[in-house]
Amino acid sequence: MKKIAPTSRSGRFDRGPAEEVARFSESISFDWRLWRHDIAGSQAHARMLRKIGVLSASELKAILRGLDAIAADIAAGRLRWDPALEDVHMNIESALSKRVPAGAKLHTARSRNDQVALDIRLWLRDELNALREDVRNLQRALVGLASRNADVPIPGYTHLQRAQPVFFAHHLLAYVEMLERDSSRLVDCRERMNECPLGSGALAGSTLPLDREFVAVELGFVDAAGRPRVTQNSMDAVCDRDFMIEFCAAAALIAVHLSRLSEDVILWFSSEFGFIRIDDAYTTGSSLMPQKKNPDVAELTRGKTGRVVGNLVSLLTLLKGLPMTYNRDLQEDKERLFDTTDTIRACVRLMGGMMEKVTVREDRCRAAAADSTLLATDLADYLVKKGMPFRKAHHVVGLVVGRCEKTGKGLHELSASEFRSLDPAFGADVCSTFDLARALSRRNVIGAPGARQVRKQLARWSKLLRG
Ligand code: ARG
Repeated sequence: MKKIAPTSRSGRFDRGPAEEVARFSESISFDWRLWRHDIAGSQAHARMLRKIGVLSASELKAILRGLDAIAADIAAGRLRWDPALEDVHMNIESALSKRVPAGAKLHTARSRNDQVALDIRLWLRDELNALREDVRNLQRALVGLASRNADVPIPGYTHLQRAQPVFFAHHLLAYVEMLERDSSRLVDCRERMNECPLGSGALAGSTLPLDREFVAVELGFVDAAGRPRVTQNSMDAVCDRDFMIEFCAAAALIAVHLSRLSEDVILWFSSEFGFIRIDDAYTTGSSLMPQKKNPDVAELTRGKTGRVVGNLVSLLTLLKGLPMTYNRDLQEDKERLFDTTDTIRACVRLMGGMMEKVTVREDRCRAAAADSTLLATDLADYLVKKGMPFRKAHHVVGLVVGRCEKTGKGLHELSASEFRSLDPAFGADVCSTFDLARALSRRNVIGAPGARQVRKQLARWSKLLRG
């Protein structure tokens, strides 16, 4: 019998596509990355076909072995991907058919439409888990840096103007919180994505009695109790990419968080702030200015956020006008997804590596935090404690600040009698307001940057991120 090569054009076509069309439509140049998951999916499908009697035991064995051998070839770089075969699915099926006659039965009750929907879910599930680990490592790096500098104060800013004192550790822990929400968004996304689409066929399932739940269990599409999870509508299963968009949205938010952290790092590293040193390994010099040491990793992370956000918008736009169900447009999803995944993982990893090695210039931080105008609000609180309504206290402290501006003095340099000349509510104890350590320890409500609260949070995070 003449061997029939697997192709999407067999039978009804007289000739292959024009050269330029083939180049335009191939996806093997990027979707080869799905090979491991494509093979795992095929092996599960083959086991199911055996279970329902489509394959004999020996055919199954030959197919499984053949696919293992192909996996070994791919891993060793021995398989030549052929663009004429369009995509990873056809390339692998073709390689199998060349080795194993029963390979021609593998595509029974399967379409590349449900196959690709499966492959991406499997691939993305692994990447998502790895990304969560990367995020965790970044959180650890931030908590480590915070713990090593637990008692270093810096100014906190609003509008990039000095506002109130905080601990450097408190500032870093803000990012740890953001990353924790990012991580839980990934878990939510994984939860919704974790349904097996195989068995949906091209769009209308199959007339054969497939055991979809068997395949689901084989591939780990199960709930917490180990029960299989399969998609419930064949049309939805082959045309839906919202799991991918959800992932890209979660990734975009991570990128935005990293971009904000990058911006802080870049500011802190500037001569004007001078709060931190970045390890040489994470900086570059200038080809012209010999003195330069630039925070390129932070800048690139900030810059790459544009790509990750762009990929999300591309995917949303890709989907918005598509009629049901599968359309070839969907092939455009993968490069955006791969780019997002590669970019976000690299950014998270490098940011983690960089933050691990950052050192804090405590003298610079303390000098900036010693600015007594940071404690203007504390001065108002002092008057409130004396019984003054806050609005009035705000006004009185405004007068104090105005006086200081005119006389070029710091708030802490005024004497108790100068304070009293502005308002009789000031007592002899007013000057103690400007003791920074005490001022910080007074911020003791839950979530505030007081020393006790920050120590508590550091302990909480160290525990949560252990192991
Ligand atoms: N390479 C295709 C993609 O990425 C696989 C599905 C092809 N299906 C089809 N009916 N042409 O979407």
